[in-house]
Amino acid sequence: MTAKIIDGKAIAQKIRENLKDAIQRRLSQGQSAPGLAVILVGDDPASQIYVRNKREACSECGIKSVAYDLPQDIPEEKLLSLITQLNSDASIHGILIQLPLPNHIRTPLILDSIDPKKDVDGFHPTNLGLLAQGRSYLRPCTPYGVMRLLEHEKIMLCGLNAVVIGTSNIVGKPMALELVNAKCTVTLCHKETRDLKQAIKQADLLVSAIGKAGVINSEWIKPGAIVIDIGITRSPNGKLHGDIEFETAKQSAAYITPVPGGVGPMTVAMLLSNTLFAAKHMPLYCAQYKISRH
Ligand code: GUN
Repeated sequence: MTAKIIDGKAIAQKIRENLKDAIQRRLSQGQSAPGLAVILVGDDPASQIYVRNKREACSECGIKSVAYDLPQDIPEEKLLSLITQLNSDASIHGILIQLPLPNHIRTPLILDSIDPKKDVDGFHPTNLGLLAQGRSYLRPCTPYGVMRLLEHEKIMLCGLNAVVIGTSNIVGKPMALELVNAKCTVTLCHKETRDLKQAIKQADLLVSAIGKAGVINSEWIKPGAIVIDIGITRSPNGKLHGDIEFETAKQSAAYITPVPGGVGPMTVAMLLSNTLFAAKHMPLYCAQYKISRH
C-alpha cells in the first residue's frame, strides 16, 4: 500500500481563500475588519519568522494585525498592562502572544490574563476546559488544524484507536481532547511511556508531536494507519524533518502528512479562522459560555 499524502498546504490555502471571501462580505456589510494583536517579546529568530508569517497571512486575508514588538527585558507588569489594554479595546478581536516568552516572565500568568473570548491560540484554561467538556469555543490551532485535515479527507474517526505522542498544553493534550470528542479511543504517550512501540502498533490513527527528527520507527506503524506528523525540526543544513520516517512510513500507512507542507500550514490557517470566529461571536458571547462551535 502507498499512503495518500495529505496536502496540508493546499487545504490551508483553500481555507485562507474562503476566509478572505468571508471577511470581504463582512466589510461589504459595513462591519469592521477582524483585528488581531500579535505580540513578540525579544528577538528569537524562529519566533520572528513565525510572527512574520502570521502577520503576512493576516494582511493577505483582510485581518488587521497590530504589531507589538517588545524588548527581551520587558517587565512582566508592562506586558500584563498591555494585555489589559488590548482586552478592553473593541477593535481587537484576537490577542496572540508568541511563545516561548523570556524566562523572567511567568508564561501561565500572561496567558491566563488574556480575555478567553480573544484567546485565538486557544491556550487559556477556559478554552481548554470548554474543549475538555466537548463544547469548544476557541480551539488550539494545531490540533484544530489536524481535525480539519481529517475532516477534509472524510476520515471516519468514531471508534478508532488513536495514539497521540506528546503531552504539551498547546498540542498533545488538546489533540487528545479533540480526538476523545470525535469518539476515538485515545492513548496519550509521553517520555515515561513504558512501551511506545506496543502503543504505536495498536494505532489506527497516530499523531506524533515530539519534535525529534525521525524518532518514530516506521516499522512500528500499523499497516493502513492514518499518520499525522506534527513534529518539525530543522537540521543544520536547514532541511525540515518530521518525527516519522516519511519515506518508509508511506509504504504502509493509508494516509500520511508530509513535513513540511502537512500540519504546519494548517496552524496558521486556524489562527486566521479563530480570529474571524472571535470577531463574529464577540457580540454573542455570554458569561455562561453557551456558544459551541459544533
Ligand atoms: N510557539 C510555538 N507554537 C506556537 C503557537 O501555536 N502559538 C504561539 N502563540 N506561540 C507558539
